[in-house]
Amino acid sequence: MKILLLGAPGAGKGTQASQIAVKYNIPHISTGDIFRKNIKEGTPIGLKAKGYIDKGQLVPDEVTCEMVADRLAQADCANGYLLDGFPRNLFQAEQLAKISTLDTVINIDVDLSALEARITGRRVCPKCGESYHVTTKTDDKCDKCGETLIQRDDDKPATVQSRLEVYKAQTEPLIAYYSEKGILKTVDGMQSIADVFGDIVKVLG
Ligand code: AP5
Repeated sequence: MKILLLGAPGAGKGTQASQIAVKYNIPHISTGDIFRKNIKEGTPIGLKAKGYIDKGQLVPDEVTCEMVADRLAQADCANGYLLDGFPRNLFQAEQLAKISTLDTVINIDVDLSALEARITGRRVCPKCGESYHVTTKTDDKCDKCGETLIQRDDDKPATVQSRLEVYKAQTEPLIAYYSEKGILKTVDGMQSIADVFGDIVKVLG
C-alpha cells in the first residue's frame, strides 16, 4: 500500500498519518519531520534546510528528492509507505513517479480560513513528534512520552502566511495532477479528527 497524504499546512496530515501508519503497518515518512530531526542534530541537510523552513519556503528540490529516494530505498518501505509532505510541487511528483508508483492519494480538504488557527495553536512534542492543539490539550506534557510540548518555529504567525502562499502556488496543483491519474480521493478535513480518520479508512478499505 503506497499512500500519499496531500493537504495544506495544518490540514491534519501528521495527525492522521500517525493513526494510518499504525492501522496499516506501514512507515510514516514525513519530510518535515526528517528535516526537523536533521536540524536538531545539526547535520549538513539540517543546516541547508533551516533557512528555508524558517522563512516558510520549500527546501530546494535536489536536497528533498535525494533524501526521499534514500528513505524509500530502505527495507521497511518494501511493502508500502505513507508519504506526508512529499511531493510538494510538480517537479517532485515527477521525480517520485520515476522511482515508485503510488496506489492512492488522499487529499485532506480544509477551508483555508481554518488553517491559521490550527497552525498557530499547534503544540508538538520535541521528543516523539506527537502533535496537539491548545484548544484540546489542557497541560503542556506529551501524553505519549511526558516531554514538555513546544511551538514549532515555523508555526509563528509571520511564517504561517508564507507557508500558505507556497501551498497555493506550488502544492495545490498536485490535486489536479493526481486527479487526472485517477488515484485522488478527497476527504472532508473540517470534521472531527476521528471522523476524518473514519473516512480515510473507508477510502483505503
Ligand atoms: P511539514 O512539517 O510537512 O509541514 P506542513 O505541510 O506545513 O504541514 P503541517 O505539519 O503544518 O500540518 P499537518 O497537515 O501535518 O497538520 P497537523 O496534523 O499537525 O513541512 C514543514 C516545512 O518543511 C515546509 O514549510 C518546508 O519548508 C519543508 N518541507 C517539507 N517537505 C518539503 C518538500 N517536500 N519540499 C520542500 N520543502 C519541504 O494538524 C495541525 C493542527 O490542527 C494540530 O494542532 C492538530 O491537533 C489540529 N488538527 C488536526 N486535525 C484536526 C481536525 N480534524 N479538527 C481540528 N483540529 C485538527
